[in-house]
Amino acid sequence: MITLGIETSCDETGIAIYDDKKGLLANQLHSQIKLHAKFGGVVPELASRDHIKRLTPLMKAALLEANIKLKDINLIAYTQGPGLLGTLLTGASFAHSIAYANNIPILGIHHLEGHLLAPLLENDSPEFPFLALLVSGGHTQLIHVKSIGDYTLLGESIDDAAGEAFDKTAKLLDLGYPGGPAISKLAESGNSNTYKFTRPMINKPGLDLSFSGLKTQVRNLYQKNINNISNTQIPKFKADIAASFEKTIIDTLIIKTKRALENTKLKTLVISGGVSANKLLRETAKKQFSKKDIKVYYPRIEFCTDNGAMIAIAGSLHGLKNELKKDSLKKAATPPREIFARARWPLNISI
Ligand code: KG4
Ligand code: ZN
Repeated sequence: MITLGIETSCDETGIAIYDDKKGLLANQLHSQIKLHAKFGGVVPELASRDHIKRLTPLMKAALLEANIKLKDINLIAYTQGPGLLGTLLTGASFAHSIAYANNIPILGIHHLEGHLLAPLLENDSPEFPFLALLVSGGHTQLIHVKSIGDYTLLGESIDDAAGEAFDKTAKLLDLGYPGGPAISKLAESGNSNTYKFTRPMINKPGLDLSFSGLKTQVRNLYQKNINNISNTQIPKFKADIAASFEKTIIDTLIIKTKRALENTKLKTLVISGGVSANKLLRETAKKQFSKKDIKVYYPRIEFCTDNGAMIAIAGSLHGLKNELKKDSLKKAATPPREIFARARWPLNISI
């Protein structure tokens, strides 16, 4: 079965083609980072307009890369939510138009499910069940993944997501957008022991997280000191903040993940989403969990952030599951009366 995956939930247009027998046949991506950088964050209307411009050329490039024709596609999978409603609608309309015109079955995919399943694109991939630490710009969640479509949310950030905290702190330090890679790079030249930020919610039972207080601690420290130091001291001041902030976030994520592993007794851990590209997170997880006999899996770096490949594989796995019930795929091929996109969409239901 050949699946076309379409991702437009935020600021990356991703189109990929996945064959359940041969693996990934094509992966095309256009990142809007340059478009939004001067605004310090994603401008939704600009993002939507850009997706519209990119979708057709990227799909043509993907078909060329895979050396197939549209008629060879057996299933279209698109990101149905959560995300920016306008950008989601560009992908949803595009996907539904192609599906209708070519009579191809179509499935709406949960964006976070795409992130969860991204490590399954690798040869050495996790087996079910596993614990997932999903750390992206919009979400920080610990999820018990039992099988395709069977997900139980164990805990999540009650305010800012980890990626959002990176982005907001980078903005405060004037490091540009996106903030995660910028903070991580600057942190390499800083000393993470300089500032002791409180690690949020680690003394509270349960698996929820919170990063907005940490962001405030950083802002207070920055504003108290920035006008009292010389220009030559500023780079070191910022680098030490970046390193201390990064370490606090990573330590907190690791403590909560450890707790979730103990509670569930799971031995397989998936870390995915944009923040899973973070070097310190990967190094710390390796150190902490390998000695506990926990196998840790990540997507390859390019599939940590948003992409079409993760949507294609999620669609493919659902398609294969649904094939047992032939009707459900046939039904999906009928012309849609509505184009579905959901800006908000909880994952902890069977999908
Ligand atoms: O998964 P993603 O592409 O988008 C969402 O679904 O939200 O994640 C983007 C987030 C941004 O907040 C970005 O700053 C963060 O991932 N990010 C990182 C790194 N690379 C991307 N955060 C920390 N370290 C990184 N190396
Ligand atoms: Zn994402």
